[in-house]
Amino acid sequence: MSEKATLEFNGQKYDFPIVHGTEKEIAINISSLRAVTGGVTTIDPGFKNTGSCESAITFLDGEKGILRYRGYSIEELAAKADFLEVAFLLIFGELPTDEQLSKFHEDIKENSIVDDDIRKILDAFPKSAHPMGVLSSLTSALTAFNPGSVNVESEEDMYNSVVKLLGKLPVLVAWTMRKKQGLPLDYGDEDLGFVENVLKMMFKQPNKAYVQNPIIVNALNKLLILHADHEQNCSTSTVRIVGSSHAGLFASISSGISALWGPLHGGANQAVLEMLEAIKEDGGDTKKYMAKAKDKSDPFRLMGFGHRVYKNFDPRAKIIKVAADEVLNDLGVEDPILDIAKGLEREALADPYFVQRKLYPNVDFYSGIIYRAMGIPVDMFTVMFALGRLPGWIGQWREMRLRKEPIGRPRQIYSGETARSFSSSKR
Ligand code: ACO
Repeated sequence: MSEKATLEFNGQKYDFPIVHGTEKEIAINISSLRAVTGGVTTIDPGFKNTGSCESAITFLDGEKGILRYRGYSIEELAAKADFLEVAFLLIFGELPTDEQLSKFHEDIKENSIVDDDIRKILDAFPKSAHPMGVLSSLTSALTAFNPGSVNVESEEDMYNSVVKLLGKLPVLVAWTMRKKQGLPLDYGDEDLGFVENVLKMMFKQPNKAYVQNPIIVNALNKLLILHADHEQNCSTSTVRIVGSSHAGLFASISSGISALWGPLHGGANQAVLEMLEAIKEDGGDTKKYMAKAKDKSDPFRLMGFGHRVYKNFDPRAKIIKVAADEVLNDLGVEDPILDIAKGLEREALADPYFVQRKLYPNVDFYSGIIYRAMGIPVDMFTVMFALGRLPGWIGQWREMRLRKEPIGRPRQIYSGETARSFSSSKR
């Protein structure tokens, strides 16, 4: 007898097949539910219990604090890999050979020129515009400058689009920051590694040579790897669902950037720093803010705490915490914000409210502290996250199209007015 799950509804029994993942995950395949029951559907706000797809890219176990890209542990990748190796792995499924990696890097550099007319679009934004809005718009605008649609079945076509995106997005990231700071825009340096080039494009002053700091290069490489994929989170699900309508890759990535912007998702790294600043301005009383976070009549939440899937600890937070200490020690940064962060962390980890709800510091609790030490402005933090997440979004988009997934179109349970007749008030 094959394994099945049985649903009993209104005296009738319905059997559904079971799907097993390679990591022993178990799911009930309810794709025939409406057909066999004559229209009964499920409801699961926030998709807390719903698997939207099968995927072979990232595995995470929120209870055990495990995160792996294509089977490789995040700890090993963060310690040993380059961001571009990880990008290749996520998108194409295997680590690149030395030859593939150097070609990948060459092709990315070759494709890093952004049409000069994009500068005109950038110029039209007010300096006050949030960099995430600017980045999402410019990424969408790239579609107009690279109009051919990607034939996902063609390895060559897909590869060309990947190197275009990985070449151009760092330029857009740097331009977005430099425009706000009134600095001249730059196309980077052919001779540099990917991460070094990103840093130089962002920070080079027009009247000075840019000197690379290996501690910062190493920390940014790690941060980009830690953020590179995280299975079906809000922005990745957005990229997959937009792409499922066969919208183009650039347009799908642009929508992912918008989804990432929100403070409950990628925007949390900015929100964490703003929260820490606000606590400092208010006298540094962490206990007062702990009480606010626990008060159900107060909308305040401790930003950087809690995660939809990690209910034990966020493995990325562990790695990043060590990296933050290294960067701050090596750069000799003494930051009162850090003391506030450490105080909040200590109190939250010992507080029954946080312990019972399994609310631990997430990756964004520490990433902002490192970005700040690197001299990255607070409103650019989520942009750095987007740069890291780019390979994950591309890999997930590609997988979704190659698996020929149907258009994403959830059901609803209508709870509005029933039929009523119209009579115009104008008559
Ligand atoms: N501060 C205070 N209370 C919290 C927090 C928090 N940061 N997070 C969750 N809770 C409480 C909720 O009020 C709720 O309490 P209740 O059971 O008494 O009603 C309980 O913990 C469960 O919270 P939910 O919102 O149901 O958990 P969910 O899985 O839907 O949300 C989320 C996860 C959005 C990350 C949430 O923990 C949060 O808002 N955290 C702060 C924002 C943040 O750091 N986001 C970054 C996530 S990481 C990323 O996107 C890369």
